[in-house]
Amino acid sequence: MEIKFTLLWFSLFTTFSFAKIITPRFPSSIINRPEQLSVSTNDQKGLYKSMFFTQTLDHFNYNPQSYDTFQQRYLINDTYWGGAKNNAPIFVYTGNEGEIEWFAQNTGFMFETAPSFRALLIFIEHRFYGQSMPFGGDKNIAYKNSSTLGYLSSTQALADYATLIIDLKKNLSATDSPVVVFGGSYGGMLAAWFRLKYPHVTIGALSSSSPILLFENISSPYAFNNIITQDFRSESENCYKVIKGSWQQIEDIANQPGGLEVLRKSFRICENYISASSLEGWLQTAYIYTAMTDYPTPSNFLNPMPAYPIRQMCKAIDDPTTGNDPFGKLYEAAVVYYNYTGEAGQCFDLADNSDPHGLGGWNWQACTEMIMPTDGNNEESIFPASTWNYSDRVSVCQQIFNIEPRPTWITTEFGFHDIKMALKRFGSNIIFFNGLRDPWSGGGVLKNLSKSIVAIVAKEGAHHVDLRFSTREDPEWLVDVRRREINIITKWLSEYYHSLAHHSH
Ligand SMILES: *[C@@H]1O[C@H](CO)[C@@H](O)[C@H](O)[C@H]1NC(C)=O
Ligand SMILES: *[C@@H]1O[C@H](CO)[C@@H](O)[C@H](O)[C@H]1NC(C)=O
Ligand SMILES: *[C@@H]1O[C@H](CO)[C@@H](O)[C@H](O)[C@H]1NC(C)=O
Ligand SMILES: *[C@@H]1O[C@H](CO)[C@@H](O)[C@H](O)[C@H]1NC(C)=O
Ligand SMILES: *[C@@H]1O[C@H](CO)[C@@H](O)[C@H](O)[C@H]1NC(C)=O
Ligand SMILES: *[C@@H]1O[C@H](CO)[C@@H](O)[C@H](O)[C@H]1NC(C)=O
Ligand SMILES: *[C@@H]1O[C@H](CO)[C@@H](O)[C@H](O)[C@H]1NC(C)=O
Repeated sequence: MEIKFTLLWFSLFTTFSFAKIITPRFPSSIINRPEQLSVSTNDQKGLYKSMFFTQTLDHFNYNPQSYDTFQQRYLINDTYWGGAKNNAPIFVYTGNEGEIEWFAQNTGFMFETAPSFRALLIFIEHRFYGQSMPFGGDKNIAYKNSSTLGYLSSTQALADYATLIIDLKKNLSATDSPVVVFGGSYGGMLAAWFRLKYPHVTIGALSSSSPILLFENISSPYAFNNIITQDFRSESENCYKVIKGSWQQIEDIANQPGGLEVLRKSFRICENYISASSLEGWLQTAYIYTAMTDYPTPSNFLNPMPAYPIRQMCKAIDDPTTGNDPFGKLYEAAVVYYNYTGEAGQCFDLADNSDPHGLGGWNWQACTEMIMPTDGNNEESIFPASTWNYSDRVSVCQQIFNIEPRPTWITTEFGFHDIKMALKRFGSNIIFFNGLRDPWSGGGVLKNLSKSIVAIVAKEGAHHVDLRFSTREDPEWLVDVRRREINIITKWLSEYYHSLAHHSH
């Protein structure tokens, strides 16, 4: 019997079940923020100040509505900046699909390299996320329907970044300060695209774990889940087999009278809601995110997790002392992701729709431009075999937004079919980092494209591990990755200063 997964892998960071997709529940609170412009507030962690910039709603149209503006948030840290007089550099994080503070707090690389580069740090929030909400800051209006969400796109976001950076440099009298852009995941795609589209605004981009080749059919729709399969299988063949066999076992039990109740008790699911597919989705989410964040040190990006969490999951599954109950073993594996710190309460709520990092806008992006086929599963997959079905995505998007995706727009706008041919000749100064344990590396740039468009590949690495705050326990390969990135950025800067000195205005 074929198991039909109703789970859709929509976001770089979030999964939604079909039920959630057709009745999207967006957080309803109206964003409160300072009324005045440029009011700054200190964050709780003391890493930066929040600022607001009056941004144009529509950069690509001249009808009167497109002149509307909104308040775009950016974070700034000038503690280490060498100043405009010295043309000291500006490091900019091109924000992705969520609250900018969350990304800033997970991008230690910029804070840790700022002192030696004497860099100014800027983190710009992506429009329609966090506090950067058009339509008066009211998320209810901004997310209401396609009339308002239509202004949420990657091209508008890149134009926001260019506009803000140019204005900021003018304000700081720092027109000659070189700008380097950074980003991870979707933010990494934006950083790379920004370098290609706005070479007059930035001298180079560090694009970490950006699945930039995952559009159309450039990469295989099986690549993503093949990597997750390999992550578990290389840890232990038994662990892989137990998980692979469990989907059928769950279906079989669920179809027996009282079977759902057995599953509910085994996995300690709250009484309000359970179905076989919701349980499968919940488990799948744990495996996917654990593979993405299979870091060598304890982390707290999506959920708090121990170092090498896949190893911990497989340890739970392989443990001979836990008997023969496969569901008991799978529960112990799931808690590595869902209850590592023991703060999950007495049961897991599968109906929990909370979105602490404000990622909800990704639904719209995944229904318009961001068509990244990731959910193909071949016979060997740790998940049930299935084919990527584009029509499925279309029908979901029509139900939620009454629109049809444009699956070829990203490749039309940014290219990347035959990437080497095109970029070797016209592009320069991009670092593509990928960790091969990260499922998104299946759509990453893994080969050097030219002398200055380089791929740094870490066999043991996970999702943008290079950008995380360093720790004393970091393995040597990770220290080495960061050292190489710093050397390359140093080279870009010295080439820039050399040109500046030999260039008369
Ligand atoms: C900048 O970041 C450093 C940590 O790297 C912190 O100590 C400092 O207070 C921050 N400065 C501002 C102005 O927030
Ligand atoms: C979106 O909602 C607004 C306000 O209710 C309405 O005027 C507009 O026609 C709607 N647009 C679409 C495409 O449904
Ligand atoms: C630049 O200064 C103007 C005038 O104070 C201000 O309105 C604008 O927000 C500033 N730009 C940035 C990026 O902060
Ligand atoms: C892949 O996409 C290209 C461009 O859209 C198309 O020409 C080609 O036929 C596609 N190949 C397959 C196998 O779908
Ligand atoms: C989470 O862990 C704590 C501490 O071990 C435990 O008391 C609690 O029951 C666990 N919750 C679930 C749902 O497993
Ligand atoms: C693909 O999805 C469409 C729409 O949901 C469905 O009608 C069709 O049967 C699916 N095709 C396959 C091969 O599963
Ligand atoms: C790309 O070239 C650099 C040297 O410029 C090298 O260190 C690196 O290993 C190369 N990357 C790959 C994936 O071959």
